[in-house]
Amino acid sequence: MPKAELHLHIEGTLEPELVFACARRNGVQLPFADVEELRRRYVFDDLQSFLDLYYLAMGVLRTERDFTELADAYLARAREQGVRHAEIFFDPQAHVSRGVPLEVVLDGLEASLSTAPERFGISTRLIACFLRDRGPREAMETWEALEPHTARLHGVGLDSAEVGHPPDAFEPVFARARQAGLHLVAHAGEEGPPDYIWQALDVLGVERVDHGIRAIEDPALLARLARDRTPLTVCPLSNVRLRCVPSLAEHRLPELVDAGLLVTINSDDPAYFGGYVDDNFQALKRELGFGDDVLRELAANSFRASFVEEDERARLL
Ligand code: HPA
Ligand code: ZN
Repeated sequence: MPKAELHLHIEGTLEPELVFACARRNGVQLPFADVEELRRRYVFDDLQSFLDLYYLAMGVLRTERDFTELADAYLARAREQGVRHAEIFFDPQAHVSRGVPLEVVLDGLEASLSTAPERFGISTRLIACFLRDRGPREAMETWEALEPHTARLHGVGLDSAEVGHPPDAFEPVFARARQAGLHLVAHAGEEGPPDYIWQALDVLGVERVDHGIRAIEDPALLARLARDRTPLTVCPLSNVRLRCVPSLAEHRLPELVDAGLLVTINSDDPAYFGGYVDDNFQALKRELGFGDDVLRELAANSFRASFVEEDERARLL
């Protein structure tokens, strides 16, 4: 089933084998003996416990080659999962803050992504995310560094530890990105309250909400999202692994669909959460009894919610 993936952190596709390969060639000491020990750590209590390991593991990414191999590995997996188009997040601050130049990240990713249509049949876009827990000032400094590379980007987003870091503080930096012609998205309502989703919409002016699952607690918000057909990029396996929902069977995703929202299914950080995007689709079938017709509609939604221009959309379907 052809699909687009709209919520995918490239650093979250870093599989343990590549962690060790990069560590070896870059001379990085890891606090894990081997791939198996690292994989055994993939048990999380909440978003923060995941982020701690996510930032630690990505410390092995140092060179252009590392980022190129990371993206190539994702694209190979994504092709197997029916992905035709991917709008890919990356976290500039997570690399620049440890001494890896922005150009190394961008050049490394682009070396892979620029030939992805021919090699994997996948078109791609890049979305740079600001780390909300590093605050609005550092986000603006990051924007200043990104601005000369605007042509290489398609959008900006907001991610990392959500609770205590509401979207409204990032209004100035989102305004700058909007002026530069970029698309706007933000993680909101993953762990944070519905009010953060309102802020993402009304203060930041985002076109899509990443996660957004806590909208289910606010009927007025559901009505607003349905009226505007604002897409949600829901990540079911991620929500279970980060304990945002008790189990997939208890996920309220069906209610979001029934409320008329434009829901899409995505993998978030597939190396960590037990599956790539089609694994998420299969899990919905298995645990929530979704029929093929619903799954096909969710896959179709991913193209409707994408930032692909109308004329290119026909090629993807
Ligand atoms: N939430 C917030 N920040 C993130 C995530 C997520 O699921 N994955 C990577 N950074
Ligand atoms: Zn995410």
